[in-house]
Amino acid sequence: MLKAAQTSVPIHPLLAQRWSPRGFDAEHQLDDQTVLVLLEAARWAPSAANSQPWRFLVARRNEPAFAQLLAVLSPGNQPWAERASALVLVAAEVVDEEGKTRPWAHYDTGQAVAALSLQAEAIGLSAHQMGGFDVAAAARQFGLDAALSPVVVVALGRRDEANPLPEPYAARETASRARSPLSSLLLSSLLLAPASGQTDQAA
Ligand SMILES: Cc1cc2nc3c(=O)[nH]c(=O)nc-3n(C[C@H](O)[C@H](O)[C@H](O)COP(=O)(O)O)c2cc1C
Repeated sequence: MLKAAQTSVPIHPLLAQRWSPRGFDAEHQLDDQTVLVLLEAARWAPSAANSQPWRFLVARRNEPAFAQLLAVLSPGNQPWAERASALVLVAAEVVDEEGKTRPWAHYDTGQAVAALSLQAEAIGLSAHQMGGFDVAAAARQFGLDAALSPVVVVALGRRDEANPLPEPYAARETASRARSPLSSLLLSSLLLAPASGQTDQAA
């Protein structure tokens, strides 16, 4: 399956090849070492004043917290996320030890998840971030206080193209990936020479 981004100019293969699958291998297990590698990648993300506000609750498929996390996902995420090898609840510590608000906590936490996602890709795994979950239920379920703001749940695992997903997920799995044109992202008028063969869609 070819989901790599068709970029107007070459970018790093990890960035071009990363995508968010729903078809995970329900037999695949994440070992301790692999979990460590993924968290270590996240740990080295940049953050405002090196505040490192990201927090992770890792639940592998055979652990009780996995079912608890699965239960707080939106109904549209549950049918495919149950095949993931792990679900990770990611929270941002939005208040520091002195009681001061951290304005960039969510931004920083997103960067840590991006690092984790690319590390997953680099070792032959995939990450699929989900904003579709019950934030209040997750905080309640895992006893997070007000200083910890749940941001996303990440499904981690190995892609499985052999066992097709039910619809509507199967169609999404094979749909081409698309992005807005680069020109629409620019707030200033930057003079870009049109690259030959520029396209914003994956094959
Ligand atoms: C913050 C965030 C929330 C998301 N929430 C969901 C979600 O609840 N369910 C889902 O299937 N995908 C979710 N996604 C995945 C996006 O739909 C996906 O990243 C986007 O369509 C681009 O596709 P790609 O990652 O394959 O390039 C989310 C992604 C992010 C970054």
